[in-house]
This record gives sequence, structure tokens and C-alpha cells, in this order.
Amino acid sequence: MSRRPVVHHPDPRLRQVSRPVEQFDESLRALVDDMVKTMHEEEGIGLAAVQIGVHLRLAVMKVGDNPLRVLANPEYEKLGQPMDLDEGCLSVPGVRDTTKTRVDHVRVRAQDVNGEWYEFEAHGLEAACVQHECDHIDGRLYIDHLSELRRKRVLKRYQKLRKEAVAG
Ligand code: NI
Repeated sequence: MSRRPVVHHPDPRLRQVSRPVEQFDESLRALVDDMVKTMHEEEGIGLAAVQIGVHLRLAVMKVGDNPLRVLANPEYEKLGQPMDLDEGCLSVPGVRDTTKTRVDHVRVRAQDVNGEWYEFEAHGLEAACVQHECDHIDGRLYIDHLSELRRKRVLKRYQKLRKEAVAG
């Protein structure tokens, strides 16, 4: 199990659409282990494979008291209402902002690490996390959901932080 480096915006790899997981083998299990370790060490609640530069439709999530979930080839259906959410992303570190497009209840269908299909319903933050990770799989980021004004403002703060980090 090893922590992998996280790809940061504006790296173009984050904008590529991932391809389906087809092989449920030892190497997929090793990848999932690395993703779980990376998510925990980065103190995230979700991580998509694209965020470590692997373009597979795969994500891991651990939100609150809910179980650790492995989502291969996930799909979801919106059941709830839009909510305001204070949202951030390990690929856009250091900033957060309020999105208004996440719904508070979804039904999810995905394959587990062995390729078995399963379903669950997610609420609140976990529902938002499903939507956030599925966006990553299709090359989208939460900043795409912000109003133009908010997006400009948050990216300005982000660029400033990155410059400061480089200046060290
Ligand atoms: Ni993210």
C-alpha cells in the first residue's frame, strides 16, 4: 500500500474522461489500496482514480460513519432536492466554496472490487460525495458548478496560494 501523488488543477489529466474498469484482478485491488491510503493521508472523504493520474471509472469514499465504499463504473439516480454545500477537492487544495447543484439523496449502482454489482442510497454529504466523484470520472470539477463570479473569485485565491507555495 503506498500513498500516490495527487494531480492538481489545472493539470489537463483532470479533464479527461475515464474508461470503464474491465479487469477485476490483483492489480485493481492494489490500485484501490493505494487510493484508500492516499485518501486517508490527504484527509479526504473521497478520491477518484483520475486524481492519481489513472483514467479508470473508479473511486473510493469514506464519509462519516458510512462504510468505506469502492465504486467501480458507478451510476446514480437523483432522488432528492438541490442543497447548498460547502465543497472542496484534494485536486484544488486550500480553497472551498458553496455549490448549489448537489442533490441531497441519490441511489447508486456500482461494482465492488471483485466486480459484483451492488446498490445503495446515499444522503446529505455522502450523496454529494457520490456526485463529486462521478464528476471526476467524467472530467469535471466542483468549480464547474459555481457561478462565474464565485469561480473567478475562488480560482484567484487558489492561484495566489499556489504562487505562495512555489515561493516557499
Ligand atoms: Ni475532488
